[in-house]
Amino acid sequence: GFIAGIAAAGRRDAAAGDAPAATVDVLFGTQTGNAELLAGELVAGARARGLGANALALDAVTPERLAAMSHVLVVTSTYGEGEMPDNAGLFWEALQADTAPRLEGLRYSVLGLGDQGYDDFCQAAKLIDTRLEQLGATRLHDRVDCDVDFEEPAGVWSAAVLELIAAETGASGGEGRAEPGAEAPARTRSPWNKRNPYPSRLAVNRLLSSPGSAKEIRHFEFDLGDSGITYTAGDALAVVPVNDDALIGTLLEHLGASGEEEVDGRPLVEVLRTGREIRTPSKELIADLVERAPSSDLASVVAHGDRGDLDSWLWGRDVLDLLRDAGSAAPGLAELLPLLRPLQARQYSISSSPLAHPDRIHLTVASVRYANALRRYEGVASTYLADRTAEGTTVGVHLQPNASFGVPADDDAPIVMIGPGTGIAPFRGFLHERAARGASGRNWLFFGDQHRATDFVYEDELTALRERGVLTELDLAFSRDQAEKIYVQTRMRERSRELYAWLEDGAYVYVCGDASRMAKDVEAALLGVIGEQRGRGEDDAAEYLADLRRAKRYVRDVY
Ligand code: 2AM
Repeated sequence: GFIAGIAAAGRRDAAAGDAPAATVDVLFGTQTGNAELLAGELVAGARARGLGANALALDAVTPERLAAMSHVLVVTSTYGEGEMPDNAGLFWEALQADTAPRLEGLRYSVLGLGDQGYDDFCQAAKLIDTRLEQLGATRLHDRVDCDVDFEEPAGVWSAAVLELIAAETGASGGEGRAEPGAEAPARTRSPWNKRNPYPSRLAVNRLLSSPGSAKEIRHFEFDLGDSGITYTAGDALAVVPVNDDALIGTLLEHLGASGEEEVDGRPLVEVLRTGREIRTPSKELIADLVERAPSSDLASVVAHGDRGDLDSWLWGRDVLDLLRDAGSAAPGLAELLPLLRPLQARQYSISSSPLAHPDRIHLTVASVRYANALRRYEGVASTYLADRTAEGTTVGVHLQPNASFGVPADDDAPIVMIGPGTGIAPFRGFLHERAARGASGRNWLFFGDQHRATDFVYEDELTALRERGVLTELDLAFSRDQAEKIYVQTRMRERSRELYAWLEDGAYVYVCGDASRMAKDVEAALLGVIGEQRGRGEDDAAEYLADLRRAKRYVRDVY
C-alpha cells in the first residue's frame, strides 16, 4: 500500500504550536471495498499530519451535514454503466435536488476509481466533482481519475491533497483526533497485493455441478500458509491468472511470431502468458482497428451504433477474431502490443468463513466456456483455475476486503440472502460464520439455478445446516425444471408476507450474483413485496427500501 509513503511524508515539525487543526472528512462511495480502504488510509495519513479525520460512507452524509464540513475528500468508484455505487446513491439524489444547500464554505477534492475499459470511466467521480463546484464549493486540487492500477495515482493525489490541507490549516504534526462516533477505519491493507500476490498452494479443485449440467461450477480451496492473510466472510479473493498456451500459440501463429522475440527484456511468449489481456479487446485496439479498416463491420457499428450495439457486436468475439476480421489491415506485433491492456487479477467472492476455515479461502467459480462453429472460447481466470491449476500447484492471490458486505455485528439479527448460481458463494461463508459464532439470528436463503438434479451445489451442506436449524428457511428456484421459468424473485413474491415480517423484525437483506438482470429484477421484487405488504403505494415502498439501504440492511455484491 502507499500508506507508509503518505504517513512518512506527512510528519512535520511540531513547531507551529497547538493551533486547532481542521477536520478532514473522507467520504467514500464503494462497490467492492477499494474506496473504503483508501478512505481508511487517507484518515491515517491525515492524522499523521496532525489533522482531525473521519471516514464516512457517502450515503451517511446529508447535504446539510456536508454544508457544515470544511475540508472534504471524496473517493468513489463507479457502478455499472456510469452509476453511483450502492452506498452513494442516496447522497447523489439529495445533492442533485434543487433544495441542496450552497456549499461556499467547503473545500474539496475528488478521487475517482475506475476502469478505462468502460465508456463511463469514473463517471460517478466526475458527476460529484462537477456538482460540488456548481454548489459553490472550492476545489482544492484537480480530480484524479484512476485506472485499475490505482495505487500509484491515488497515492500521489492523497499526498498532494493532505499536504495542501495541512499547509492551509497550519496543522502541526502529531496524531490528530477523530470525532466521537466517527467510523474507525477497521482494517489496513495486507502486504500481499496485485504487484506482490501471495503464492498460494491450491489445495482443492473440485467439480461441484454434475457432469450433465449446462454449467461447470467448481469448488477451490487456497492454502493461506504463513501469508498472514486474515479474511472476513463476504470479502473477495483476487486471482492472478495466466493465459492459455493454446490461445497464445494461435495468436503467435496469426502474427507470424515465434514467441522468442524480446519485449521489455522478456520473451514475447512470457509477456503474453502473464502480462497482457489477450481475450478482451481494449478500447484502444478497437479505435485502432476502426482507423485501419474504416469500411469494416466493426467500424460501421462504431460509427452508426450506440454503446449497446457495439457491446452486442463484440459479445463472444475476442482479440484474435478482431485481428482476423481486419485481415491485412490488422496491426502487426509491434503495433499490437501497446494496444493490449495489462493482464488483470479477477475477483471472486469468498465462499468460506475464517471461523470455520482459518487456514484456507474457498471459492465457488463457474467456468466460462462457449463455442461457435469456428472456435471455442474460454474465460481467462475461471478456466485457468479449472484446467490449468491442478491441486498442489501455486496460484498468485491477494485479498480484496469488502467491509460493507458481511454478516451483521448483531448475532440476533435475522438475515435474508438472495444468491442464485454462483451468487451463493458469500452466503455459504455467512452460514458457516453464523454457525461458528452460535448466532441466534434466523437465516433465510434464496438459491436457484437451471436444474435441481445437476446444479444444486452444496446440497448436502445446506441440508445439514437446515437440519441443525442454522438455515431457518431455504427457498429454491430451479428455472428449467418446469415449463415456466421460476426464479428467486418468483419465490420472494410467493413468500411476500413472511419476507416483509422478517424486514419488520430487523432483517438484513443481501443480494449476490448477476448485476445485469438478476439484481435489478430482485430489487423490483423486493419493492413489490414491500409495496404489497404495506399498501401505501410505490413512493412509500421506495422510501422503505432507501431506509434499509441507509441502515446498511440492504447490501449487494453484484457483478
Ligand atoms: P435461466 O438461465 O434458466 O434463465 C443462475 O444462473 C440462475 O439464474 C438460472 O436458473 C437462471 O435461469 C437464473 N436467471 C436468469 N435470469 C434471471 C433473472 N433476470 N433473475 C433471476 N434469475 C435469473
